[in-house]
Amino acid sequence: MGLNISAGRTLQEEGSLDARNDDKIVKYMKDVINGDNVDVSREDDEDPFFVLDLKDVEKKHHLWKQEFPNVQPFYAVKCNSNRRVLEMLAILGAGFDCASKAELQQVLDLGVQPNRIIYAHPCKAKSHLMFAKENDVRLMTFDNEDELVKIKEVFPKARLVLRIWAEDTTAVFPLSVKFGCQLHEVHHLLKAAKKLDLTVEGISFHVGSGSGDPESYYTAIQDARTAYDIGNRIGHDLRMIDIGGGFPGKESSSVPFQKFSAAARRAITKYFPESDIQNPRIIGEPGTFYVQSAFSLAVCVIGKRDLLKNPFLDPKDENWNSIDLSETPEVAYYINSNVYSSFKDAKLMDTVFDVEVLKSSNINGNKRSSILWGNTTSGFDCVRRHCQLPELEEGDWLLFRDMGAYAMAISSKYSGFKLPICYTLQKDE
Ligand SMILES: Cc1ncc(COP(=O)(O)O)c(C=O)c1O
Repeated sequence: MGLNISAGRTLQEEGSLDARNDDKIVKYMKDVINGDNVDVSREDDEDPFFVLDLKDVEKKHHLWKQEFPNVQPFYAVKCNSNRRVLEMLAILGAGFDCASKAELQQVLDLGVQPNRIIYAHPCKAKSHLMFAKENDVRLMTFDNEDELVKIKEVFPKARLVLRIWAEDTTAVFPLSVKFGCQLHEVHHLLKAAKKLDLTVEGISFHVGSGSGDPESYYTAIQDARTAYDIGNRIGHDLRMIDIGGGFPGKESSSVPFQKFSAAARRAITKYFPESDIQNPRIIGEPGTFYVQSAFSLAVCVIGKRDLLKNPFLDPKDENWNSIDLSETPEVAYYINSNVYSSFKDAKLMDTVFDVEVLKSSNINGNKRSSILWGNTTSGFDCVRRHCQLPELEEGDWLLFRDMGAYAMAISSKYSGFKLPICYTLQKDE
């Protein structure tokens, strides 16, 4: 799974897939459900759980190396800080992008040398900055003058990377609204750094998470070269660029990873040719790319309501304000996760989660128009509005793939529902 990150798996928008029995994730999940071959049991048999396929992470690393032989990956820990993932990436030689003291600590605890870390947060709390100083994590981003003054006060020996604004209108999670200086500010900021006797050695950007436009890397790298030249004219010794994250991490991505890497490579060749710039160091901060397809989630159906017998309120009723049920489903299922936990993207990004039936006695039965609700009491907690599923019963299981990016990182225990535990499929399984 996961090597060819292109539009692979096809799903009808409103459809569902039956989980394939020959699939190792499905097989492993069934073992967990049946209590076979697993050493950690869940508190309750119906508790949801993740399965991490470590081999998928390793394949991604090789794919990155193949597409970007000259771009050193610094994995963005915020995307998924699973210990097994970090350990594997540390062994494979990746660097790490950390955004807080806790992330720095987690990576340092693995024995990773501080020079393999970039503290990639343009606005850092003083106490976190102090922690970076104490642990000799020197490489860090900034994008404004106040941050420069803070860094001068707390950690004047830091090695700075100026984050510039990047076009991110096609991104699912735009970031440029919050961080990145404009090109016309570069001169002033780099002059200010010089005046403070601070070392600036690179330019970074981020085209937004879930970017839909490979050309945004091309334009951003072009801008990075402009900023790079300004810095060197002022007297800094710039020697690196950081092309950020934003790359897709699943096979069904509408634009394949290779299109993004090709656009970025093309721009690197044009704007940072080795003939022109001696030993330019190029790094990236991929998060989603590394982990999205490596994690799958199994959830249990904990309840159902036949809407033909017990309909919801008429959607046209004035009291109805949360969910558009204009295509009224026939049956509602309640599953034991929710949009405040692993399915937050249903609300944040209107994500339509692909669902597969993992375990049911009626797996091949006639399909019915269904709605999936989460397990909280919230009326906003709708995981999927419409999907075609065979008639399910309480105790049946559903499978969601590509759940590795941010789902675990942002999950809450709202309403007392514990977070799913994560089983790891070893590399050789
Ligand atoms: C500074 C920075 N670097 C890297 C990432 C990872 O981005 P992605 O998961 O899109 O690869 C993020 C995500 O928010 C970020 O803010």
